[in-house]
Amino acid sequence: MRRLKTALIGTGFMGKVHTDAIRRLGYVDIVAVAASTIGEAQAFADSHGIPTATDDASTIFADPSLDAVHILTPNALHFPMAKAALLAGKNVICEKPLTVTSAEAAELLEIAENKKLAHCVEHNLRCYPVVQHIRRMRENGDLGDILIVQGTYSQDWLLYDTDWNWRVEASANGALRAMGDVGSHWMDTIQHLTGLPITAVCADLQTFHKTRKRPKGSVETFSGKTLQPTDYTSVPVTTEDFGAVLVHLGDRARGAFTVSQMSAGRKNNFAFEIFGSKCGVAWSQERPDELWIGHRNTPNQVIIKDPSLLDPRAAAYADLPGGHGEGYDDTHKQVFKRFYARVADPSAPVDYPTFADGLLGMRLLEKVLESATSRSWVNV
Ligand SMILES: NC(=O)c1ccc[n+]([C@@H]2O[C@H](COP(=O)([O-])OP(=O)(O)OC[C@H]3O[C@@H](n4cnc5c(N)ncnc54)[C@H](O)[C@@H]3O)[C@@H](O)[C@H]2O)c1
Repeated sequence: MRRLKTALIGTGFMGKVHTDAIRRLGYVDIVAVAASTIGEAQAFADSHGIPTATDDASTIFADPSLDAVHILTPNALHFPMAKAALLAGKNVICEKPLTVTSAEAAELLEIAENKKLAHCVEHNLRCYPVVQHIRRMRENGDLGDILIVQGTYSQDWLLYDTDWNWRVEASANGALRAMGDVGSHWMDTIQHLTGLPITAVCADLQTFHKTRKRPKGSVETFSGKTLQPTDYTSVPVTTEDFGAVLVHLGDRARGAFTVSQMSAGRKNNFAFEIFGSKCGVAWSQERPDELWIGHRNTPNQVIIKDPSLLDPRAAAYADLPGGHGEGYDDTHKQVFKRFYARVADPSAPVDYPTFADGLLGMRLLEKVLESATSRSWVNV
């Protein structure tokens, strides 16, 4: 495999996760990083052995030797950063949600396609091995006709009004917070697994803390619990803490899900159940190697991730034998494996979430907002 060069724009939570996962591929070198300050970028580069650090991402996009760029900034910067990278001829992986409007997402997709560049939106949560097994069960007809989907994506890290992050501010995050941050993953995964598009939504959103106390210093993602709340500014909040959405999938299936960043004790509970005419399946990210399969007339089953027992196409998402857990960071590696295979060889399959999925996600988020605002069903 030819060695490839890549760079990261953003060195926060995702900067660390992407660095680890890229390096596990073995043939992709991270040659530069950018952050909002040169101090942050340099500290990250020093501690991770990366040669170049900058607070000006345009200098990274101008490097002709780079094959790809990862956009890992707050959401509102995804569009200008990804657009500049694409126009400079880079293949792009962008974190989710792809942009803050569907018009921006459509523009990115068009540029990437016109320039024949690889493009990926980081909906990594599709890539747990047993989640992929559900995809293949559905394709094989094992679930029967899809009837009902339900679930949640619940966290607790913004429970208190002293919890703060850039996601709280619509100017950095976009209009929808819990829906955009974690609801985008729920909707992406459920459509990927069922093969059905969400065709209508009826949404209810709630912002429990209409004002939050913003610390005067900067705050890293998930670090709020360690702060001493002594020096805050009270600011009004418009982004939602909680959302509940009824959905139609295709022309027959029905479902519902909730999203929350204020559910005490739920750290990262992405969970869903899919019920078909033959059987049901249930999965939760808090026990990622376990797949529950429910039957009407025979005992239910719990399958533990074991590549030798999974559908071979799902087993390709497991790099360790049974009994050896694979978790959140492995899902990023599974996306990158497939993305960089395509960067190295443009005839390789596109078996990863693309900007087309990111655009669909943005359209859905806009419909959710329209539904919640109008207090009515909205067709997608
Ligand atoms: N796929 C997932 O599972 C997952 C998980 C968490 C976050 N995310 C997404 O990743 C993105 C980043 O989230 P995070 O939690 O890592 O945020 P973070 O606050 O931890 O990090 C953001 C980074 O962006 C950098 N940045 C800000 N402005 C910049 C600029 N002008 N130029 C260069 N760098 C700049 C900051 O310096 C910081 O390093 C978000 O879009 C988020 O939705 C995805």
